[in-house]
Amino acid sequence: MQMPMSNLTPITELYVSYDSAQKLKHEAGNLVSWDLTPRQTCDLELLMNGGFNPLKGFLGEADYDSVVDTMRLADGTLWPMPINLDVSEDFAASIEPGQDIALRDQEGVILATMTVTDRWTPDKAREAAQVFGADDVAHPAVNYLHHQAGKVYLGGPVTGIQQPVHYDFKARRDTPNELRAMFRKLGWRRVVAFQTRNPLHRAHQELTFRAAKEAQANLLIHPVVGMTKPGDVDHFTRVRCYEAVIDKYPGSTTSMSLLNLAMRMAGPREAVWHGLIRANHGCTHFIVGRDHAGPGKNSAGDDFYGPYDAQEMFRKYQDEIGVEMVDFKHMVYVQERAQYEPADEIEDGVTVLNISGTELRRRLREGLEIPEWFSFPEVVTELRRTSPPRAKQGFTVFFTGLSGSGKSTIANALMVKLMEMGGRPVTLLDGDVVRKHLSSELGFSKEHRDLNIKRIGYVASEITKNGGIAICAPIAPYTATRRAVREMVEQYGAFVEVHVATSLEECERRDRKGLYKLAREGKIKEFTGISDPYEEPNNAELVVDTEGLEVDNCAHQVVLKLEQLGLIAY
Ligand code: PPS
Repeated sequence: MQMPMSNLTPITELYVSYDSAQKLKHEAGNLVSWDLTPRQTCDLELLMNGGFNPLKGFLGEADYDSVVDTMRLADGTLWPMPINLDVSEDFAASIEPGQDIALRDQEGVILATMTVTDRWTPDKAREAAQVFGADDVAHPAVNYLHHQAGKVYLGGPVTGIQQPVHYDFKARRDTPNELRAMFRKLGWRRVVAFQTRNPLHRAHQELTFRAAKEAQANLLIHPVVGMTKPGDVDHFTRVRCYEAVIDKYPGSTTSMSLLNLAMRMAGPREAVWHGLIRANHGCTHFIVGRDHAGPGKNSAGDDFYGPYDAQEMFRKYQDEIGVEMVDFKHMVYVQERAQYEPADEIEDGVTVLNISGTELRRRLREGLEIPEWFSFPEVVTELRRTSPPRAKQGFTVFFTGLSGSGKSTIANALMVKLMEMGGRPVTLLDGDVVRKHLSSELGFSKEHRDLNIKRIGYVASEITKNGGIAICAPIAPYTATRRAVREMVEQYGAFVEVHVATSLEECERRDRKGLYKLAREGKIKEFTGISDPYEEPNNAELVVDTEGLEVDNCAHQVVLKLEQLGLIAY
């Protein structure tokens, strides 16, 4: 089959010349500025460099409606993903259609100007249902749409001034035209692209290499480093892993380039979108696997899309996309023959070995062996550096309970016990102490208490991120705020909530600081338990009751819990 050569000719970019860019930068000083969100910066980069060709800017209302309903721009061109400039209502109200605005990155550097032609308030529930298949916030992009994206969309053509600055892996980032030029120079006429947001192990290497052989093409490993699914391995680690794997392919057959795409996890629509983006990058073939760009389970616990929906949709639009789909072969390791083979070609009676993603994470977490048949030693080393076993990761113990319940005393005892064990630095963020330093200006209104707890949560999350142990001991009376802190910390390590469940009667009977008496007399206002609420936790990892128990025993219960969770090992 004769392949079209158009994949090698330069593609249209939205940048102006260097001289015009300098002039525009100067003139844009007078324009109203929009500070781009990280996702918008990714979108803008691909708009400007031709990765989103044929788009000429953020979608206007007619194109948006058409894309949402039909996967096509208003002129009928295939384009499955709405690319919108979502802004706040206040910002939207401050401009008029026809006006030029400056688009700036988070440091305030101007990247582009946009002539606003359209301004509208989208029906987000409809967008969610049409584009992502359900208005269900268990889908990361639907959650983003409802909870992070601005309420109003702006559309209009973009004039590119400069690329967003990247300080990492500069040599590995290529625009569509840079890749096309490289393919031209190397004489690569047929190129299979492999999209990924995960580290590559031996099975991936086998399947990608087979795909390239089948298509008689060269191979481009094209990982996404913009925004992927929350919880994914960070791109720094992944790129170090890719760099190790790229050497395992036969010389000069394979290349690797990083794509600053913000994924939406939209399954079938996303597969078509990925195909168009790869066509723009000069590729002729694209590997589509089982559950391509899958978002995980919906809120009812079912998959959002069928496992082969993406392949089906891709096949349907293949001619228009302009790249040929290469089926992903599920590769498994056959022990008797010590090699990877496609699962559907294996006869009965041989031993097939496989390690799932969940099992891999468990082995990393527990510091267990990861065999050489599964991955490359260099990749495993990188992953172990980023995800040390739980007993070496940072974590947070968060005590909550009434004033005088014994939180601080148990927290202090726990700190000493953990310091005795050694290995990780321990920081105690006690309620009273925090209020002396971090939150000295705050009182006890709901707003101030929330701010206080979020500050503690932020510090604890930083300690956890850096491998330390944070012990927090505030009252933290509100469930929602405790949950917010949990989410902050769990990005980096375990969060162990301990409810010190000493009853109000007992706390008041002890009245160590004499505060309950003053609260009863009305001399202290908004006192927790007396004149202010305490919402009891119902999902704490541990509940300790100090009545009739020694402090040492309470602290020991926490130590046992930490041991059970694999957070400490002797
Ligand atoms: S909160 O709600 O989590 O922000 O409270 P926290 O930072 O832990 O501060 C609680 C300590 O402040 C003293 N105190 C009060 N507590 C509750 N309500 C009111 N109105 C109040 N006023 C002062 C009290 O000593 C608490 O200390 P602990 O160690 O909890 O007994």
